[in-house]
Amino acid sequence: MTRTALITGANRGIGLEIASQLARRGFHVVIAARDEASSGQAVTQIRASGGRATFLSLDVSDSHSIREAASEFGSISDRLDVLINNAGIYTDKEVTIATVPRELLVRTFQTNSFGPLEVTQAFLPYLRRAGTSRIINVSSGYGQLDRMSSDAPSYSLSKLTLNGVTIMLADALRADGIAVNSMCPGWVRTDMGGPGATRSVEEGADTAVWLADEAPHDMTGTMYRDRLEIPW
Ligand SMILES: NC(=O)c1ccc[n+]([C@@H]2O[C@H](COP(=O)([O-])OP(=O)(O)OC[C@H]3O[C@@H](n4cnc5c(N)ncnc54)[C@H](OP(=O)(O)O)[C@@H]3O)[C@@H](O)[C@H]2O)c1
Repeated sequence: MTRTALITGANRGIGLEIASQLARRGFHVVIAARDEASSGQAVTQIRASGGRATFLSLDVSDSHSIREAASEFGSISDRLDVLINNAGIYTDKEVTIATVPRELLVRTFQTNSFGPLEVTQAFLPYLRRAGTSRIINVSSGYGQLDRMSSDAPSYSLSKLTLNGVTIMLADALRADGIAVNSMCPGWVRTDMGGPGATRSVEEGADTAVWLADEAPHDMTGTMYRDRLEIPW
């Protein structure tokens, strides 16, 4: 049976690369994104390479959009094998923990932390139906406790919270056969990472693709970079 993977923010950057690689491995990939034009191009690109791809409208910062997307997904598949919470924003500019405004914290958390949790909750019926399924949260070294500094305050705290979400969901869903992990792609040349970043999108996507397709299923509640466990 063809496995289905839903990737949030798959219209560009690391998400698009994860979707392209999973499609090449035989997954039916669902491009869950808010921009229809670039998502349509992503779907066309994957189909042109012989892959199977479908667009699903989803804004992870909007509860109504999440509910609508989960309902609409039922017309695509009755089960979901892999959910990759990739969509994210980095909006800290010239702020530190000493100056970050509450509004910026709220905005970043809505997308980077509460979004992945609410998307997971909404798609749980489909993940449960798949038998053994996986949730992969695209986090960051900025969210690691031992790497915290005063910089990028809303982004770092949102990814720290996302890692907490990973740990708690792994515990809650272990009995359902759903593995939940965080991964860090490293510093990647995307719109977010900028042209000076050290890694290609292929390198940035690799660990998420490995978790989705190859990693032992009993690995859950852990964070990875370069296919290796790293500390929280
Ligand atoms: N690049 C790096 O160096 C790096 C390092 C560590 C971790 N990460 C993480 O990797 C993930 C992907 O980053 P990237 O480098 O590929 O960033 P990117 O090029 O800026 O792409 C971000 C993606 O997230 C989507 N997105 C943002 N807000 C959304 C929302 N509310 N609903 C749905 N989609 C939304 C964007 O969609 P739109 O086109 O609609 O804006 C876009 O597809 C993020 O979680 C990021 O934190 C990146």
